[in-house]
Amino acid sequence: MTSHDELPGTAESYWMATTTSTDKPRLDTDAAADVVVVGAGMAGLSTAWELARAGRSVVVLEADRIAAGVSGYTTAKLTAAHSLIYERLSRTRGGEGARHYAQSQQAAVERVVSVAEELGVDCDVERPSALTFTTDPQQRATFEAEARAAAEAGLDAHFVTETDLPFPVRAAVKVAHQAQFHPRKYLLALADDITARGGLIHEQTRVTGLSEGSPCKVTTEGGATITAKDVVVATHYPVFDRALHFARLSPRRELVVAAPIPADQAPKHMYVTDDMGKRSVRTAPLDESRRLLIVTGESFTPGTGDSHERFLRLDRWMHDHFSVGETAYRWAAQDNDVSDGVPLVGPFHPGARHVYVATGFGGWGMSGGAMAGQLLASLVTGAQPEWAGLYDPRRLWSTLREAPALLKQQVEVARHFVGDRVKTTHVDSVAEIAPGSGAVVRVEGRRCAVYRDEDGTAHAVSARCTHLGCLVSFNEAETAWECPCHGSRFGIDGEVLHGPALRPLSPRDI
Ligand code: FES
Repeated sequence: MTSHDELPGTAESYWMATTTSTDKPRLDTDAAADVVVVGAGMAGLSTAWELARAGRSVVVLEADRIAAGVSGYTTAKLTAAHSLIYERLSRTRGGEGARHYAQSQQAAVERVVSVAEELGVDCDVERPSALTFTTDPQQRATFEAEARAAAEAGLDAHFVTETDLPFPVRAAVKVAHQAQFHPRKYLLALADDITARGGLIHEQTRVTGLSEGSPCKVTTEGGATITAKDVVVATHYPVFDRALHFARLSPRRELVVAAPIPADQAPKHMYVTDDMGKRSVRTAPLDESRRLLIVTGESFTPGTGDSHERFLRLDRWMHDHFSVGETAYRWAAQDNDVSDGVPLVGPFHPGARHVYVATGFGGWGMSGGAMAGQLLASLVTGAQPEWAGLYDPRRLWSTLREAPALLKQQVEVARHFVGDRVKTTHVDSVAEIAPGSGAVVRVEGRRCAVYRDEDGTAHAVSARCTHLGCLVSFNEAETAWECPCHGSRFGIDGEVLHGPALRPLSPRDI
């Protein structure tokens, strides 16, 4: 095995690179609050902010740093236009379901815009339209139907064939009055306002236990316990799984590349297509004469191979289609898709009285996270928005509609458990692993995940994911071990980078 050539751009999210790092205290003593929110991304901080504003005492616990997980690596589109969803929703959840989805997502867009204004935070809010397009002439009828369904759901949506992309499209749905922003500038301001309102935020505080009751108890890796009447689990992929949510969530990773583009050649709106393994395009302000073009795509299941070729393909596509300069940044985003296409936001499980979850936003975690904040704060404070039923996580056990998708997903999980999809990263001996590479090796009957660093030192950990035991696989372009079953990610020494796994991969002596 050999290392790949250099990839273009700095391996860093633009949002992370242009904001300061945070240093909130770790929780090391027992505490009490009205509500504990686990996770300080868009959904967690939005929920905590809404609750703090409603007068609740709130403690936020974050395993890493504020808005430095998925929310620091998003493309940060704030929109109710989620690809081709409205025609599907009106078929599966009826006209009312589609209307509730459109209303709640558009309300979330407006909420972020108004909160940014209220807090006086300059987070580069802009109000472009959002377009879902195709270059395939066969898809015209599908897009016409989607435009009709989105308009019937209440959005300002139209079927168009003209766009300001520098290449022809065959059909598109254009939804006006959407937004884009700098997510981390917004979330850091939200965090400051939570603390100004008396809330507490603890970083580097991984939650390891949850006991439901009156009150609920949350325990942390360091041994501290927080008691609270209500608990919100907003950890992207839920770190606790009381309702087999893992059977309904499919993790998906997407790559992002960004390069400066002359302002007069930059597309004015936000674009997305399912063609070519997905492509998403937006821009952000850079300086007087340039904007940053941000292109996302090459969707894949984490742990199913290296991102290197995918990064190169995406970068080539950006340079082939736009007059951009040198690639400045590259990063990756991770999403969870729900089998019926609608996020899970509400009571955690059928018996839950005071524990709530927010997950499964697909690629739309900015509007979805803000919507979850409004919805969960309402539920905790005793209100019931009319769209609560649409997102209620308990809905899925009462319908067989999603059964085929669930079954397919669990077959995939079973295949990864026995390891037949990760042969490409298996080698017969540690000696075959080149510096900068990693592979799974069987040593004395046990599967070890071995990474050899540039100095030649081998780092060996167990290849069994600590969540539910699937085999991990190495992603060389991102120097991480990834689990294909539910998307956990680990560093080269086994540390957890992304849940649902809570424990690191154990070290192995080779
Ligand atoms: Fe579930 Fe690895 S993430 S088994």
